[in-house]
Amino acid sequence: MKNQNVKPAEGKLGIMVVGLGAVTSTFMTGVLMARKGLAKPVGSMTQYDKIRVGKGADKKYLSYSEIVPMAQLDDIVFGAWDVYPANAFQSAMYAEVLNEKDILPVKDELEKIVPLKAAFDKNFAKRLDGDNVKQCATRWDMVEQLREDIRKFKADNNCSRIVVAWAASTEIYVEPNMAVHDTLEHLEAAMKADDRANIAPSMCYAYAALAEGAPFIMGAPNTTVDIPAMWEMSEKTGMPIAGKDFKTGQTLVKSGFAPIIGTRCLGLNGWFSTNILGNRDGLVLDEPANFRTKEVSKLSTLETILKPEAQPDLYGHGNDEDNQYFHKVRINYYPPRNDNKEGWDNIDIFGWMNFPMQIKINFLWLDSILAEPLLLDLFLLSVGAARAGKSGIQRFLSFFLKAPMHDYTQGEEPVNHLFQQYTMLKNAIREMGGYEADEEID
Ligand SMILES: NC(=O)c1ccc[n+]([C@@H]2O[C@H](COP(=O)([O-])OP(=O)(O)OC[C@H]3O[C@@H](n4cnc5c(N)ncnc54)[C@H](O)[C@@H]3O)[C@@H](O)[C@H]2O)c1
Repeated sequence: MKNQNVKPAEGKLGIMVVGLGAVTSTFMTGVLMARKGLAKPVGSMTQYDKIRVGKGADKKYLSYSEIVPMAQLDDIVFGAWDVYPANAFQSAMYAEVLNEKDILPVKDELEKIVPLKAAFDKNFAKRLDGDNVKQCATRWDMVEQLREDIRKFKADNNCSRIVVAWAASTEIYVEPNMAVHDTLEHLEAAMKADDRANIAPSMCYAYAALAEGAPFIMGAPNTTVDIPAMWEMSEKTGMPIAGKDFKTGQTLVKSGFAPIIGTRCLGLNGWFSTNILGNRDGLVLDEPANFRTKEVSKLSTLETILKPEAQPDLYGHGNDEDNQYFHKVRINYYPPRNDNKEGWDNIDIFGWMNFPMQIKINFLWLDSILAEPLLLDLFLLSVGAARAGKSGIQRFLSFFLKAPMHDYTQGEEPVNHLFQQYTMLKNAIREMGGYEADEEID
């Protein structure tokens, strides 16, 4: 093995999740079942993928943990916060993603995962009304209580390191406000002044995690860490941050399919995506202000893959207003389907002599099932990045995310193209393992 640039992965890893709903209860169940040899972590790059390192006669294919020391599934301890008091077993049963036979073998372990009181403000998710909620005098008090939760969890479970992820409901859209979100000093002042409009509860979780030396992952599209003040906080504390929004179903297809159109220089007039889902996530997203957050995240994918300004003949048609193809995304709350999401994409393309053609994609997927491997990979890789001394926005984790974080104040563009993201992922792992980053064909 090469000289690794990462410290060893020793001791217990505490995974603390905000939200003990469908995604996280299914995640915990899967990890516990895999630990007993009763299930396989299918879809997880850290558990299955192999990366080429070296070139020519020296090349070999290694799994991620052979390149970068990584926590094993046995080393993981789970904690959670939620607005509702249901434990992880009750939550997994309620979510109905899995069948009883997939949950019962780990019932005892799941029952022990009881959510801590949530840092919550109903104004950010009107359709939730649980009472497992902290009483907080100010947003700063909210931060202090969350920090105390993390410290206590770490000590009680004898963890050597902690990682925190938001996998709770999507909050209403908080517009970045450069009078508050621009610097850490302003952000802290706003928390102390209890500025409830500009400081979402999710920001308090993120701040608390970073302050306690834990990487923070934003699994929903909320603004949270996507502001300069949080980038500053993550640099100051030497902690990685990643977000936003797990890239699971329709956006995964989009970021993998759009390159087909772009690579063959075909034209695009419009892309219409619609979904139905009936879980609690769908209920919250039925509220227009919460959907707005999701819409911003879902719409951004195509713009950096099929660029109107670079190819006006191909991508500069279809929508007079913006001078580019028409792109629309809809999510419809439809309870009978529960977690079984169904998505339809209608893609209006054109070819030789502008001749119009259509592509239809009908994707039926289980939302949480596609999210779980991403959670595992994001946890293990962000903790690995912390041990490698990486802080701030982790662009190499864009592969897993719908709206990759980037420094928009400097005009930086995110990379949404799935296969470019995969190259970034592999190169970051190679570098952490002491190998050379490269673009050789595998
Ligand atoms: N499943 C997917 O494929 C997928 C993909 C991308 C993003 N997401 C996002 O992941 C999140 C979770 O999805 P889900 O299906 O598990 O939803 P869910 O509704 O089943 O679970 C979310 C939980 O978060 C809790 N919650 C809300 N606000 C909270 C707060 N401030 N503190 C603590 N807990 C809080 C809710 O009470 C609920 O139990 C959603 O934001 C969703 O948009 C999911």
